[in-house]
Amino acid sequence: MLDIQKIRSDFPILSQKVNGKPLVYFDNGATSQKPQVVIDAIAQYYQEINANIHRGVHTLSQLATDAYEESRSKIQNHINAKHSHEVLFTSGTTFGINLITNGFASILKPGDEVLVSSIEHHSNIVPWQMLCEKTGATLKVIPMNEAGELIMSEYDALLSDKTKIVTVNHISNALGTINPIEYMIQKAHEVGAAILIDGAQAVPHLKPDVQALDCDFYVFSGHKMCGPTGTGILYGKEAWLNKLPPYQGGGEMIKEVSFEKTTYAELPHKFEAGTPNIAGGIVLGTAIDYMNEVGFDNIQEQELALLEYGTEKLLEIEGLRIFGTSENKTSVISFNIEGIHPYDIGTIIDKLGIAVRTGHHCAQPIMSYYGIPGTIRASFSFYNTKEEIDILVAAIKKAQIMLS
Ligand SMILES: Cc1ncc(COP(=O)(O)O)c(C=O)c1O
Repeated sequence: MLDIQKIRSDFPILSQKVNGKPLVYFDNGATSQKPQVVIDAIAQYYQEINANIHRGVHTLSQLATDAYEESRSKIQNHINAKHSHEVLFTSGTTFGINLITNGFASILKPGDEVLVSSIEHHSNIVPWQMLCEKTGATLKVIPMNEAGELIMSEYDALLSDKTKIVTVNHISNALGTINPIEYMIQKAHEVGAAILIDGAQAVPHLKPDVQALDCDFYVFSGHKMCGPTGTGILYGKEAWLNKLPPYQGGGEMIKEVSFEKTTYAELPHKFEAGTPNIAGGIVLGTAIDYMNEVGFDNIQEQELALLEYGTEKLLEIEGLRIFGTSENKTSVISFNIEGIHPYDIGTIIDKLGIAVRTGHHCAQPIMSYYGIPGTIRASFSFYNTKEEIDILVAAIKKAQIMLS
């Protein structure tokens, strides 16, 4: 069991007041809060070892390079990648997905198919649409059911030898559904397709094992897992990363440059042009250390308790409907209250110090499926408490009275 008060004291922002009320932070799906060790590590980097990496013979450059590469190895171990050069630093999930769609532009041909799920974040829809427009490939969509689950029989039926790549999130940001990615990876491979897993909403809750999963690509953002913004990881199998062209040209990604021809550096540098977010990359390692110290078993136990308690308490509110009712879901509750616009509830409860997300959550196709403009989303982290859920429920009841 976690000592929640001790954990909460690791996060300075959680003891703040917002609009004169103690902050209740339930917007973890958008970004997580940062523990003091992460905040300190950023300052420490700039105070002690700030220098550009992979470039200088001087001591600071070497220290910064070592710290950056140590962080890469730490992340390699965390996700159980076979090689550290399969772990690329990016600025986030969006960048990682665009890097892959850019690479597939040189592979796909008219008649090829890309399979995307119907419960994706826009960042895992739009780059694939752009890719299909560019290459003449066709985008096919794996449908969902009322509970917010992907329909596996439909997935099976869509797969064929025309399918070149499947893309799906591990966990849906708008609904919390945990997708059966093990099955989906196996099925994609049976038809010879590659598969990308968007792990943006998974890594705050669990430790993915990319070798056991056998996925071709796994992307995520650091800022949703206690790390700094502007950080992210793209894991790719070595063979795929060798096959794909670089995303950006520039310094550090080359072997030799002449005006006649440029040759590219080995992995991972081929995909890391220019000066990266050095502090961010190093401190993402610190964030991962912190989460491992808390322990993913403890994190899951606490979040499951919050999900169960929150679901029960919120459903006691008259006219409240939850969207995303899969048995297999994480600590995200998306809901609406009959006759009230989600934005109105969000605005009132913000005045009471409660941060939730309202709107379409960058997942408009899900909202279209349900025929709603958006939802209110409360996404819980391991540092949240049942008492905070009680404050949310009381605030919603108050808002309901004010708005009816
Ligand atoms: C499932 C999912 N994919 C992708 C993203 C995009 O992440 P980022 O904005 O950090 O690139 C998000 C962000 O909310 C997400 O929830």
